[in-house]
Formats: sequence, structure tokens, C-alpha cells
Amino acid sequence: MDGRSSYLTLGEKLCSVLFPLIGICEAVILGFVGCCGDLRRQPDRKFDYSFTDFVEISRNSPFTVNEVEALFELFKKVSCSIIDDGLIHKEELQLALLKTPAGKNLFLDRVFDLFDEKRNGVIDFEEFIHAISVFHPGASVEEKINFAFRLYDLRQTGFIEREEVRQMLNAFLLESEVHVSEAILEAIIDKTFEDADADMDGKINKTEWKEFVLKNPALLKNMTLPYLREITTVFPSFIFNTQVDD
Ligand SMILES: *[C@@H]1O[C@H](CO)[C@@H](O)[C@H](O)[C@H]1NC(C)=O
Ligand SMILES: *[C@@H]1O[C@H](CO)[C@@H](O)[C@H](O)[C@H]1NC(C)=O
Repeated sequence: MDGRSSYLTLGEKLCSVLFPLIGICEAVILGFVGCCGDLRRQPDRKFDYSFTDFVEISRNSPFTVNEVEALFELFKKVSCSIIDDGLIHKEELQLALLKTPAGKNLFLDRVFDLFDEKRNGVIDFEEFIHAISVFHPGASVEEKINFAFRLYDLRQTGFIEREEVRQMLNAFLLESEVHVSEAILEAIIDKTFEDADADMDGKINKTEWKEFVLKNPALLKNMTLPYLREITTVFPSFIFNTQVDD
């Protein structure tokens, strides 16, 4: 890999930083179909969601009632894997995705934080639906841009800073076992800020980020999972659970 090609493929570089995240979200959805087998409704006490709640949740999301029910079955499987309390703890998300409850992973931490909107250390069903919604084909570009911004804004300062871009790139490179020199890494970061940081104050604010992404649509390409449009077709086993026809 030489410096020049790094310059030319900046969009793809940053885009690929998002791949592990998307992969994780995708794994949340697909991973359980294979491993959990029969997802038919079992009696459950910890979950006090009624059909009316599903209708309400559906109304506030791009998903139909059927789909919300399907996603609930998925949610239940993850949320009872370690602590059976109807909430997803970080260890459970990690177990589900990485097959081990221990260890540290920057991407997993970010995904967890992004899902955990109430910042109380657990993911409830509404938070789960809300985060998954961002990847629905029906979600607005605005929502996808905002989600990506939050992803990069590691320290949640409201700005994307050099150090944060560096950390994400490093974590990604480590994960994918790609080696690039410190100089190339710096060049990628320089170029990002040259393109994105319009007022050159050393940090990218949300407005600047939006402009940057709209100029580099590849950054959002992977933020849509087309099959979320047809979730009950993708997971026929879920149809058994349904109480309504949408
Ligand atoms: C972001 O930076 C731009 C200049 O690049 C500036 O015009 C805009 O007001 C800033 N927005 C916020 C919310 O700070
Ligand atoms: C993301 O985009 C790349 C390149 O277009 C594609 O190969 C890959 O399958 C996409 N991943 C997802 C999860 O859509």
C-alpha cells in the first residue's frame, strides 16, 4: 500500500472503518437465526410487552407490527443469554457477536454505546428497535449521517477530533490485520480533515460532517441493510409468532 493510493481511496478507507460496525449489526440480526433454532414463542415472565406495545413501537419505527414481533424474539434470545432480565448487557452483546463474554473491543463498545441511548448500561427493546431502524432502507439519510457521526465521536464531545479518527482507524486496521505505516495513517487523517474540516479548527462538527458525507456518499453505502425491508421473509420461522397480518 503506498501513500498515493491511500489518498485516492480515502472514501473507501473511511467507509471500511464502518464495515465492522455494520457487520456487527448484521450479525445481531442474522447470527441468531442459525444458532437458536426454534424461535417459537415460549411463556415468558420478564417481558411485559403487550400486543398494544408492539403496535405503538411499530408506529414509531419503519417496521411493521409483524417485524417488531420478529425483532422481539431476536431481542429476547440475546437479552437472556447471561442475565435473564429482559435487557441486553454488554457481555451479552459480546457473547452473541464475538462468542466470548470477556475482552475488550472498541467497535463493540461503540455499538453498545450507540444502542444504549439512555446511557444506563443496558439496552432495552425500544433502544434496540431504534438503533436497528437506522439501517432500514426507509430510514432517512439524515438519520444515517447522524448515526455515523455519533459512531466517530468517541468521546461524545459533539465534534469528531483527529484523535478519534486515529483511534477508529487503528482499531480497524488491527482487526483486519492490515499494516500501514504511521506516515500513511497521518496522511489519511490529514486528508480527511482537509476535506471535512471546513473552518480548519481541527475538529469536525456535525454540519461539516454532513457536507463531507454528502460529497462522499460511499460513506453511507453500507448503512442500509436491504433485507430489513422484508424481515419476515428473511426469517420465516418468525411468522409462527405473529398475531396479525400486516
Ligand atoms: C460548524 O462549522 C461551520 C464552519 O465550518 C460553521 O459554519 C457552523 O456554524 C458550525 N456549526 C456548529 C453547530 O458549530
Ligand atoms: C458493504 O459494501 C461493500 C461494497 O459495496 C459490499 O461488498 C458489502 O457486502 C456491503 N456490506 C453490507 C453489510 O451491506
